[in-house]
Amino acid sequence: MSISKKSPQEVEKMRVAGRLTAEVLDYIAPHVRSGVTTGEIDQLCHDYIVNVQGCIPAPLNYAPPGYRPYPKSICASINHQVCHGVPGDRQLKNGDIVNLDVTVISDGYHGDSSRMFQVGETSVQARRLCEVTFECLWLGIAQVRAGAHLGDIGHAIQQHAEQSGYAVVREFCGHGIGAKFHEEPQVLHYGRPNTGIRLESGMVFTIEPMINAGKAAIRTMADGWTIVTKDHSLSAQWEHTILVTETSYEVLTVSEGTRPKPDWIR
Ligand code: MF3
Ligand code: CO
Ligand code: CO
Repeated sequence: MSISKKSPQEVEKMRVAGRLTAEVLDYIAPHVRSGVTTGEIDQLCHDYIVNVQGCIPAPLNYAPPGYRPYPKSICASINHQVCHGVPGDRQLKNGDIVNLDVTVISDGYHGDSSRMFQVGETSVQARRLCEVTFECLWLGIAQVRAGAHLGDIGHAIQQHAEQSGYAVVREFCGHGIGAKFHEEPQVLHYGRPNTGIRLESGMVFTIEPMINAGKAAIRTMADGWTIVTKDHSLSAQWEHTILVTETSYEVLTVSEGTRPKPDWIR
């Protein structure tokens, strides 16, 4: 039970995996339109990862203890779906917000990233939720450097979410990542400053806040995977894979289409 620190060789492989992950999101962006089904989006991503990138979609048949094998290659979570939405026959429609979560295995190493997409004209409330959640991700990332505490990340995220009138989902968290999809440590999206383990350079983990417009409570759908808000309020999520460096951080899941850090964050 310990947190692995990646060697320079491993870090280089994770840079590649991270870039490829982000490139899947770039590739799929123009397809996220009214009328397309999440199953079609999944198939396009699957084919791109396998046939163009020569990589493996990590979610396909992923089966952590207590879960049935995940049946698709990406997660697609619409509106009040929080995470792990299973792609299927549902068509996107004008006004939907959807999170696409992609995890690619390249040369044995994982990259994990998700973004929010807006379909056509979305409500002011939906747009604000997506923006605040993006800011939460980046406020968390901005805490990362050797010597910082894990709780600093959670605190920064929780404070911004709650100040904005939103709630942080507690049941799912960011995670160490490397040769395995989910490793130690757990990266909570709430917490207190100066608590939790100290970060060390070479650690790699995700930050992936799930923020609800209403209450924090969630439930699991009958498919055993899709998580929804109990009160059916909208939920948003953004995710990056992050390397801890001596003085700061390096975002590994970057590509041409990656949205830049908000300029008011350090
Ligand atoms: N990509 C998700 C994460 O960020 C995990 C999805 S597990 C799956 O950790 F099986 F649903 F794909
Ligand atoms: Co993740
Ligand atoms: Co993910």
